[in-house]
Amino acid sequence: MSTAVQMKRISVPDIARHKGGDPVVCLTAYSAPMAGFLDSAVDLLLVGDSLGMVVYGLPSTLGVTLDMMIAHGAAVVRGSSRACVVVDMPFGSYQESPQQAYRNAARVMAETGCQAVKLEGGTEMAETIAFLVARGIPVMGHVGLRPQSVHVAGGFRSHGRSEAEAMAIMADARAVAQAGAFSFVIEGTVEPLAARITREVPVPTIGIGASPQCDGQVLVAEDLLGLFADFTPKFVRRYAELGEQVSAAAAAYADDVRARRFPGPEHCFGLPKGGA
Ligand code: KIV
Repeated sequence: MSTAVQMKRISVPDIARHKGGDPVVCLTAYSAPMAGFLDSAVDLLLVGDSLGMVVYGLPSTLGVTLDMMIAHGAAVVRGSSRACVVVDMPFGSYQESPQQAYRNAARVMAETGCQAVKLEGGTEMAETIAFLVARGIPVMGHVGLRPQSVHVAGGFRSHGRSEAEAMAIMADARAVAQAGAFSFVIEGTVEPLAARITREVPVPTIGIGASPQCDGQVLVAEDLLGLFADFTPKFVRRYAELGEQVSAAAAAYADDVRARRFPGPEHCFGLPKGGA
């Protein structure tokens, strides 16, 4: 029997127990190396379909496929050992029926080794969430601004400003929790509403552009690190400017190559003693 100590991953029930307690720390990750860098700092790594824009340069998340999510999800699981890993269900992979959602979510779980899936939607997705949870697939919900519905919403904007919209988002939050989601993301939603949802709905809320009162916070790691230069949303705090460091390092390398300062003798393979 191996004596190696296996690090125990943070589980879905561990995350659910954060309700009203210590905030859940969550960041996105799309690759094994990035997952390794983030693993010890966070409770939850989200393999978000934002990878379509951040990694693939797509204009929205709508072009992301199930195969892309599975490849990146598996990489993040391989690159981490501690954080709970949740993988986004991409556009078109779950909205048709609970059966379609189950078939695709089961593939994500089996082929990535993640702990749970995330899907966008509220009251209209409650039946699907209940169907998945009853069959052993933990689900994280996602209400408020839903990037996969950007065309219905008429663009990326904050949600919950009108009374009608606020009531609809509150109903979505209650429906998702009642259906069995262990937690849900509240994105791009006015602060007082996100705070109220957090007070009134009994599962952990994970905010992004929402409220400091949420039970946890999530950001796209590349936004926080200064590695995604296209735009910086209002709700992002930059903790580093790694993109500038990448450009400076590439320029220094280019100078060295052009001046024949790289490679140096220490980077070259010599002949064995006695020569060829
Ligand atoms: O796709 C994603 O990265 C997300 C988070 C921003 C919540 O859904």
